[in-house]
Amino acid sequence: MLRRRNEGSRTMSIDLTEETITAEVQKTFDGAADERTREIFVSLVQHLHDFAREVRLTSEEWFTAVDFLERVGRISSPTRQEFVLLSDILGVSVLVDQINHDGGAGSATDSTLLGPFYVDGRPRVENGSDISGGVPGMPLFFTGRVVDSTGLPVSGADVDTWHSDGEGFYDVQQADKLHGELAMRALLHTDLDGWFSFRSIVPRYYPVPTDGPCGEIIRAAGRSPMRPEHLHFRFRAAGCEPLVTMLFRGDDPYLEQDAVFGAKRSLVADFADHEAGETAPDGTPMTEPFQTVEWTFTLASARR
Ligand SMILES: [Fe+2]
Repeated sequence: MLRRRNEGSRTMSIDLTEETITAEVQKTFDGAADERTREIFVSLVQHLHDFAREVRLTSEEWFTAVDFLERVGRISSPTRQEFVLLSDILGVSVLVDQINHDGGAGSATDSTLLGPFYVDGRPRVENGSDISGGVPGMPLFFTGRVVDSTGLPVSGADVDTWHSDGEGFYDVQQADKLHGELAMRALLHTDLDGWFSFRSIVPRYYPVPTDGPCGEIIRAAGRSPMRPEHLHFRFRAAGCEPLVTMLFRGDDPYLEQDAVFGAKRSLVADFADHEAGETAPDGTPMTEPFQTVEWTFTLASARR
């Protein structure tokens, strides 16, 4: 086999074949300064090449895939995270979460995927605040507590929460209607005893966005785009592992067919119904039906 020196010191091959190209590409990572970088790319090349060989990928199919990825990039923005959605609908988000949170933490609350609707720039609010942003819906009162793996309260924890409205739409999906304002999301902090609370509106099950490239995959597969009703949470606290999780409604029709594979029975909460005339957890006499949810989140100790 003919070889020549490239501009660096690496030896390159020509006349490569279906059988020899993989090793040649992998060798180009031998000089990586970081061993983990080399390990990841060598494996990625191996699996990508094996995939192409296994399905006997045609040139037209590969160009279709490249065009697809270009379109995923073009439609993406800080509030339209199509790449996150692609990772979600292919199960990679949950797989990576499972690899990194294998339940070894014992009592820690189970994690799940972040999803495509987390955005920075959410308002920081005090406990007990109404975070609905004026979006109409059935009132929801959430009371949460954050404890560590020994059951002691975690004070001063950052608590992100975000959810859909009662028709299954997030604020970023209705920017025109909400004049670009964020709603149904906030950053809170736990008090000295680990408690946090907010008022909002009851969310609903929803289809993941299907008006972009990811929708093409969902339609081509003939699969459901639906996600069961849930509330999102993200916790960060000193001395603890970060936690990204959700709480689900137990009687949701889509609980066992989550389009992004993130639902877990351990994260099913009681969305308790209350009649008009009852008093809300914050002492408000309610003139309309409402729901309450309470949950204790347990954070694993930070890994050394
Ligand atoms: Fe969601």
